[in-house]
Amino acid sequence: MLADQFGRIHNYLRISLTDNCNLRCFYCMPEENYDFTPHSKLMQVEEIDAVAKLFVQQGVNKIRLTGGEPFVRKDASKIIQNLGKLPVQLACTTNGIRIDDMLPEIVKANFHSINISLDTLQKDKFLRITRRDYFDRVVKNIDLLLNNNITTKINVVAMKGINDDEISDFIAFTKNNLIDIRFIEFMPFSGNKWSSNQVMTQRDILDIIKEKYHYVAQPIGFHETAKSFKIHGHKGRFSIISTMSEPFCSGCNRIRLTADGKLKNCLFSKHETDLLTPFRNGQDILPIIQSAIWSKAKTQGGQLNEQFEKINASIIQNRSMINIGG
Ligand code: GTP
Ligand code: 5AD
Ligand code: SF4
Repeated sequence: MLADQFGRIHNYLRISLTDNCNLRCFYCMPEENYDFTPHSKLMQVEEIDAVAKLFVQQGVNKIRLTGGEPFVRKDASKIIQNLGKLPVQLACTTNGIRIDDMLPEIVKANFHSINISLDTLQKDKFLRITRRDYFDRVVKNIDLLLNNNITTKINVVAMKGINDDEISDFIAFTKNNLIDIRFIEFMPFSGNKWSSNQVMTQRDILDIIKEKYHYVAQPIGFHETAKSFKIHGHKGRFSIISTMSEPFCSGCNRIRLTADGKLKNCLFSKHETDLLTPFRNGQDILPIIQSAIWSKAKTQGGQLNEQFEKINASIIQNRSMINIGG
């Protein structure tokens, strides 16, 4: 069991496969001087498999693949094939562009769910946010997942002045689609020009929704990042991930492995623990993992202020989101 000093047990491992991406979302990827990690410095297929197995022996039963964009990695199929054999719920977070190419592998690996990042339902705005023209393909791929009965969630980073005018459109999308639309409060990471003025809080989002809809809160799982709500007559549901206005660290069961093999014990941790180098040197990495998890901060890497309006994003020491994988 992978426990920390606050009694939290960690059974959910997020593995970033690459820090490369086929989109250029302004809030995720720094504009200036961004170099992708060269392939040799990434965990290789067999290394990911071996390290994942070690985590599974320690009680991990859910593995999420993240990026950058996990499916731009050329050997993603092989990695999925291996991890699909482990006794875990396999999930992934993707921008959805390569779902059509990867569908046979996705079906074969029996993914528990696929989370798609999509911040707008408008083609021209998609181009402005991502700087790439893939809107139609992503929307088609969401249909493809739904038609294949694969549990699908849409992650929408809610930002004032960017997509606050689309909250109701996203809700309307849940009417006939068995899908979970998850609004995420905008979070500060290195190079993403975060300002508290842009954060749409859970309250802001619910206030907009309640003008048009009557919603009912659903029971919350202890470890969930999202609080979910149902609207009568809608096939799907909506959820809110309230990291900034109402953090959920007390139920945290998550650990992260970056594409270059560093363990992050929290999304906002400044400290990282290199696992890949000692692994390549033949060292036993279990004690290293245990001690890294034990030392996890109680909330938000010990770096954010409880009142998000008071956060000075420039002093947070962390990677950029493209480098962490969410
Ligand atoms: P499910 O397993 O489907 O609930 O997905 P998830 O929310 O665990 O993962 P996903 O990659 O879809 O992340 C959605 C949003 O939640 C992203 O903005 C993540 O950064 C955020 N998120 C995921 N895990 C954590 C976490 O441990 N802490 C915080 N604060 N946010 C998280
Ligand atoms: N704040 C909140 N969520 C973010 N994501 C990326 N950057 C941010 C941010 N700054 C989301 C992506 C993806 C998930 C892993 O994290 O949209 O769905
Ligand atoms: Fe866990 Fe850190 Fe996220 Fe809090 S901010 S829920 S401690 S990963």
